[in-house]
Amino acid sequence: MGNESINWDKLGFDYIKTDKRYLAHWRDGEWDAGTLTEDNVLHISEGSTALHYGQQCFEGLKAYRAKDGSINLFRPDQNAARMQRSCSRLLMPHVPTEQFIEACKQVVRANERFIPPYGTGGALYLRPFVIGVGDNIGVRAAPEFIFSVFCIPVGPYFKGGMKPHNFAISSYDRAAPQGTGAAKVGGNYAASMMPGSEAKKHGFADAIYLDPLTHSKIEEVGSANFFGITHDDQFITPKSPSVLPGITRLSLIELAESRLGLKVTEGEVFIDKLDQFKEAGACGTAAVITPIGGISYKDTLHVFHSETEVGPVTQRLYKELTGIQFGEIEGPAGWIVKV
Ligand code: PLP
Ligand code: COI
Repeated sequence: MGNESINWDKLGFDYIKTDKRYLAHWRDGEWDAGTLTEDNVLHISEGSTALHYGQQCFEGLKAYRAKDGSINLFRPDQNAARMQRSCSRLLMPHVPTEQFIEACKQVVRANERFIPPYGTGGALYLRPFVIGVGDNIGVRAAPEFIFSVFCIPVGPYFKGGMKPHNFAISSYDRAAPQGTGAAKVGGNYAASMMPGSEAKKHGFADAIYLDPLTHSKIEEVGSANFFGITHDDQFITPKSPSVLPGITRLSLIELAESRLGLKVTEGEVFIDKLDQFKEAGACGTAAVITPIGGISYKDTLHVFHSETEVGPVTQRLYKELTGIQFGEIEGPAGWIVKV
């Protein structure tokens, strides 16, 4: 069955109820096999730790309709591993990598009619999550957990997609120095909603956060990682214990070096040294590569390549990354998992 009701070219990043989602329960020390269900409403105890104490984490990855008609998942093993690290940080049970990937595949197959056609630029966004549930009131790990995966067809996360967007440095922190910044947990995103909405109110795409200890170095965007290209063609991305280790970031590090011949540095990006960059970008599963036109800091907009044109290095990185995801270019071994 096709999907005539969706205008693929107009997709943004909005909730659409798709046909089936995967649902598994952890009780008495183990996950059950999980099932697909049409019901998109969870029935959970009012005492669930996910509701009160933020004991929950999530992931984001995409399924792509490839050029040859097959369906590609991009590095789902990395999402499984990151979710395991998030679960460890919040005292939740790991979902085994095989179960994670199998759940994603089942959800993609059951919602195949929602995968945007090749050539539209859209993809099927998968949202796996683990939440603490069951009767409880004290601040302690939940007695039971739910692992679920649902999916939504999406287009660009930032309106207009692959064109320069301006971002604003926030005076708030999204994470603490030894907190949960490196884990993909809801609390980080709750903390980013007010600063993010302030940035958007002022016409920016999103907020960029500085390091929470000294407020002198760029950490990341509220929804993506940061990278910059220096005038001498180095790819630089912040390294910090409070930055989310993005899988797009990890992939660009490899592609920048092996395919574009750039020198790669994971290090410090001082907010008063933006002049070193000729181009900058935000990268993530939802954001893909979003060129950064300018960054506003203390009422001054620092413009990189241009506010209207995409820089050539950013363009090449985008072509390489999305080419691999859509099956136009051979990726490094293991990056593409066929559904
Ligand atoms: N940083 C934050 C705060 C994010 O929400 C995301 C998106 O998942 C990323 C970075 C990029 O991570 P990934 O490339 O794995 O999607
Ligand atoms: C993702 O890119 O998967 C994310 O989780 C970003 C989110 C803020 C939509």
